[in-house]
Amino acid sequence: MKEQVLQLKKEKNAVILAHYYAPAEAQEVADYVGDSFYLAKIAKSSTADIIVFCGVSFMGESAKILNPEKKVLMPDLTADCPMAHMVKPGLIQKMREKYEDLAVVCYVNSTADLKCQSDVCVTSSNAVKIVKALPNKNIFFIPDRNLGRYVASQVPEKNIIINDGYCPIHAAITKAQLLAQKEQHPHAPILIHPECEPELLEMSDYIGSTAELIGYVASSSLDEFIICTEDGVDYKLITDNPEKKFYYPNPHPCCADMKLNTLSNILAVLEKEDKEVLVDKEVAANAQKPLNKMLELGR
Ligand code: 13P
Ligand code: SF4
Repeated sequence: MKEQVLQLKKEKNAVILAHYYAPAEAQEVADYVGDSFYLAKIAKSSTADIIVFCGVSFMGESAKILNPEKKVLMPDLTADCPMAHMVKPGLIQKMREKYEDLAVVCYVNSTADLKCQSDVCVTSSNAVKIVKALPNKNIFFIPDRNLGRYVASQVPEKNIIINDGYCPIHAAITKAQLLAQKEQHPHAPILIHPECEPELLEMSDYIGSTAELIGYVASSSLDEFIICTEDGVDYKLITDNPEKKFYYPNPHPCCADMKLNTLSNILAVLEKEDKEVLVDKEVAANAQKPLNKMLELGR
């Protein structure tokens, strides 16, 4: 299957993008593997005829919005991020009416419709930098309460109002699970994704996006780490650092939606070109603005 995927990719001038949470077999055949910010930049600049996005729907959708002339396919169109929908209808408008000088800051883990109502998008790797750079005093941060709280702790000069959404996978990791790992591996630093609960972030040694956590390991002289994020990052970590050891909370955090990007689904979509990401033209035009603003401010 792997050979067939590589052959078809060449024949059709297709490029495969995979998030670090996609299964190892998807990362293995991908041309680009990265965090959300990196993949958005690659999607925008791609000159391939077809982009196969191994991620979840907001990622495929963002790729289409940033590169509307491109055919964007996903191995499974039902791969979704529950957090992307977690903003109550009408709430953004209410906040705009309530606060003067308000910027709506939207984590990319959101639907295109939410992006349309927002001023700027952010990812976990650039949220602090972008919020700091905004001229507005008031920020309504959607949809993730945990990334929102983390940003608020780093940008105390702003009034940050936080929406109550969350990632079910990261929010389910408990302090007890993390403490159990720390007890077994007292010398291993805790590296954590900001979608985790604040009490876990407080216990950690480093907070960052998937790519930042991987980068931290690469530049560290230590040889063991407690990794507090979805366990798909393990593939890159062990490939790049075969001599280092990685421990995860038990049970391992696993995003079932990301795992729908199997090799057989990739092969099938490359053959049939049927699972195309489609975004309404007007929605795409409006959602493009906050995404482009993120690419500009996050540079
Ligand atoms: P990153 O931008 O850190 O890759 O995170 C994306 C995501 O979905 C985290 O759950
Ligand atoms: Fe969404 Fe959480 Fe899965 Fe990331 S890990 S895609 S935030 S459900």
